[in-house]
Amino acid sequence: MPGAETFRASAEAYDRLVGRYGPSLALDLIEFAQVEPGSRALDVGCGPGALTAELVKRLGAANVAAAEPSEPFALACRARLPGVEVAIAPAEALPFAEDAFDVALAQLVVNFMGDAPAGVRELTRVTRPGGTVAACVWDYAGEMTLLRAFWDAAREVEPERGALADEGAVMRWCGEGELAELWSSAGLEHVRSGSLLARAAYSGFEDLWAPLLTGVAPSGAFCVSLDEERRAALHDAYRSRLGVGEAPFELTARAWAVAGTVPG
Ligand SMILES: C[S@@+](CC[C@H](N)C(=O)[O-])C[C@H]1O[C@@H](n2cnc3c(N)ncnc32)[C@H](O)[C@@H]1O
Repeated sequence: MPGAETFRASAEAYDRLVGRYGPSLALDLIEFAQVEPGSRALDVGCGPGALTAELVKRLGAANVAAAEPSEPFALACRARLPGVEVAIAPAEALPFAEDAFDVALAQLVVNFMGDAPAGVRELTRVTRPGGTVAACVWDYAGEMTLLRAFWDAAREVEPERGALADEGAVMRWCGEGELAELWSSAGLEHVRSGSLLARAAYSGFEDLWAPLLTGVAPSGAFCVSLDEERRAALHDAYRSRLGVGEAPFELTARAWAVAGTVPG
């Protein structure tokens, strides 16, 4: 999938861009997946650890493990959450035994997997029969406001390149119902779909814009690929689409969620 390599960046840059929504989204995903106290949980594609941290609060570090292919993100997660086993590995090749977890979760990851069906099969393999495999992805084409407004502005300023990079157009598994098909084809049972609404607060537009200049995530990578003049045009078009200035504001972001039960 396009974009996975754009996460080999600093954890702080990620925290200030998409990571800002992580803790709020994580609480919703944990509730959606019905993670029970006392469970042993795996966070796949953990990034710097937004969901991992909420799992640790609920279950304790000894009951939480994580996997992440980007080394800087995996190392940040390890440093932030001592006691959690964080493997440097992709979803498609998890270094964990069969049936090792009660629940396996992947927050904002499935669309970045090189082979999503294989990744979901791996999440299923490491989860015990009767356990839960759950995930969420951004509604890039609709109500993930930060990224929808970004790509609409990008398409306005650079129509051809913007259309080719627009995550709402190029990401698989991010349309309503697509995750449920993936879950069913992995053999998961009692598949449930839903939507989650995360939020993030900004001190002003420059607070939102600054992390894009680090090149993190597909939006940041697009931003830094422009020359100065085009980037200034993108900055202005983006701000005007969001209708915000230098006063504090909040944005909401919708994610599609899915959960299924491991058979057997
Ligand atoms: C948008 S970030 C989400 C990070 C974290 N789960 C969160 O909610 O903040 C996407 C993450 O997926 C990771 N990733 C990319 N390809 C992956 C793969 N094949 N398997 C697992 N994770 C992958 C990236 O390195 C990045 O950390």
